[in-house]
Amino acid sequence: MSVLPPLRLGVNVDHVATLRNARNGRAPDPVRAALLAIEAGADGITAHLREDRRHIRDDDMTRLKAEISKPLNFEMAATEDMLRIALATGPHAVCLVPERREELTTEGGLDVVGQQKALAPFITRLNDAGVRVSLFIAADPAQIEMAAKLRAPVIEIHTGAWCDAVVADDKAKAESEWQRIVSGAALAQSAGLEVHAGHGLDYVTAEKIAALPQIVELNIGYFMMGEAMFVGLTQTVLDMRAAMDRGRKTLRTYL
Ligand code: PXP
Repeated sequence: MSVLPPLRLGVNVDHVATLRNARNGRAPDPVRAALLAIEAGADGITAHLREDRRHIRDDDMTRLKAEISKPLNFEMAATEDMLRIALATGPHAVCLVPERREELTTEGGLDVVGQQKALAPFITRLNDAGVRVSLFIAADPAQIEMAAKLRAPVIEIHTGAWCDAVVADDKAKAESEWQRIVSGAALAQSAGLEVHAGHGLDYVTAEKIAALPQIVELNIGYFMMGEAMFVGLTQTVLDMRAAMDRGRKTLRTYL
């Protein structure tokens, strides 16, 4: 029986800032949430600086970098402006995501195949600066192969379509999306990529995906912040960690 690599939990604090910005004040503070999540066992903090600054703002990123003791994963669109801010902030990792102002959240993966020329210099400059680059993509073979070709060390598989299908109880769609993730994770690992996953995960889907041995990090935000309103953030982190541990212990044949 092989030992599965540890699975890291990255907690996304964007929606603490969403709530703060609803009144344009100082509370609730995403940095306070990040510190509490780390104290409860999170392995890292993720935050997305969007072009429209709808939740996280520039000074949140600066404070996160200065105050947290675990890795900061800086999500951003591949623009010159964002690259400048990221390089000045010096996070552990940058996750490049697609971004359109009109979307509610990050709705699809990056089109690495279609945008290879535009993305390549961003990946190179982040690699050169010692920032670990991750590309947020669908578990599509062509996208995965291109991510490896462009020398991104990490991909984050977009789990949104699978999670939506699970929540909608659309069994056929959930199964086909799941199979796409299973084979995508295997392909990515064989191409030398480190594999992360995220978007829309809750206790049920986090437990299931934790059984995929190639995946070493989950980034989770929206569901956890919603749960935190009822049971507190500390308990939510503990419960999510327990769900991931249960999944990780389930020996599946996805190797
Ligand atoms: N990973 C990436 C790249 C994302 O863009 C997001 C959403 O900001 C997440 C993970 C977290 O998704 P959710 O908030 O749905 O858990």
